[in-house]
Amino acid sequence: MSKSIFIRNASQLVTLQGSSNAPLVKEAMSELGIIENGSIWLEDGVIQAVGLDEELALMYKDRLGDAEIIDASGKLVTPGLVDPHTHLVFGGSREQEFNMRLQGATYMEIMNTGGGIHSTTRQTKAATHEELFQESYERLNQFLLHGVTTVEAKSGYGMDWDTEVKQLEVARQLNEKHVVDVVRTFMGAHAVPKEYKENPDEFVRVLIEEMIPKVAEMGLAEFNDVFCEKGVFTPEQSRQILEAGKRYGLTPKIHADEIEPYEGAELAAEVGAISADHLLKASEKGMKAMAEKGVVGVLLPGTAYFLMAESANGRKMIDLGVPVALSTDCNPGSSPTVSLPFIMNLGCLKMRMTPAEVITAATINAAHAINRGREIGSLEVGKKADVTIFKVENYMKLQYSYGVNHTHTVVKNGQVVVR
Ligand code: NIG
Ligand code: FE
Repeated sequence: MSKSIFIRNASQLVTLQGSSNAPLVKEAMSELGIIENGSIWLEDGVIQAVGLDEELALMYKDRLGDAEIIDASGKLVTPGLVDPHTHLVFGGSREQEFNMRLQGATYMEIMNTGGGIHSTTRQTKAATHEELFQESYERLNQFLLHGVTTVEAKSGYGMDWDTEVKQLEVARQLNEKHVVDVVRTFMGAHAVPKEYKENPDEFVRVLIEEMIPKVAEMGLAEFNDVFCEKGVFTPEQSRQILEAGKRYGLTPKIHADEIEPYEGAELAAEVGAISADHLLKASEKGMKAMAEKGVVGVLLPGTAYFLMAESANGRKMIDLGVPVALSTDCNPGSSPTVSLPFIMNLGCLKMRMTPAEVITAATINAAHAINRGREIGSLEVGKKADVTIFKVENYMKLQYSYGVNHTHTVVKNGQVVVR
């Protein structure tokens, strides 16, 4: 049995208590449940007690000598950050396209002439399982160093069966071998492969009749995602793909209204998606439909930043009652970063979210976007002992002082993994 951990006397301990059953919306997104001079007792990988330092010190007075004590005075303690949308497992990189975009080429032009997602697909196909594992393992190390303890990971750089399976198997192995938890999403519908360019419906049929049933049968993923975008998959094709996933127990997610308005937010509400992601061009009608159905809006302001586009209207979504989460979208084309804290700063400055709202968005609401709200995302008794300590005195300073990694200590499953 490993040693208990007693994190003591944080200047602010963000608990987000009472948020396990459903994502937080509207004003509740600002209720962080902060305890000043807060402490937390972790044992057997689980949170055992949360409260004022003096209360916990009394409660555990006979066991203080056995525990590892971490002094968090002057520091901010939060739930381990959760990244609910990444394309973690991929081969190669695309800095040449970055350079082309700086000279005026657009993201879609590059993709439609065989680059973009197709370029990463070629590089991912060419990489061995072992190579993909090593590169992604290193990315997970970087996530962890930025305070992230759980990430979602999508396939979609194969679009042929073998490569999709390779990506999902690598993600499964990463979940086993790396301390960061990795939650898997099948995204065979990431682009239409060039062999199917003249007949995209045939590729949709392959996804629906062949790949989705096998992904479900082999237990390769929990979620099923589609890039619903003009020139990629239409709303009707997306609906068919997501409905097929549902029949096999895969929960729908959707890349919606990223580049052009396409009623993707409306579709997310209609199919009962757990989240709709991107939403730069989402309509007000779509936002309202998401709010009504409780679809989490996973916003990716790093992608807008990197594509030099206007961010999603996070402020409006929160005001309309959409539960908002934040994510890096870590991928080699539109957001090559692992810094969720930087994304939180963009959430404030590009989407007018408040510092309190972005904390909620990167913890409990992110957990709900991947169906983990009961296990992680808040510091409550019985939840996983995933905790991040930042070298700042209060939660506002975490976003205010940007471009700096403030992570001090990370505890994952009750073990100190970064210090
Ligand atoms: O979420 N929009 C589609 N998919 C990814 C980008 C993938 C890529 O460019 O490699 C995204 O932005
Ligand atoms: Fe994405």
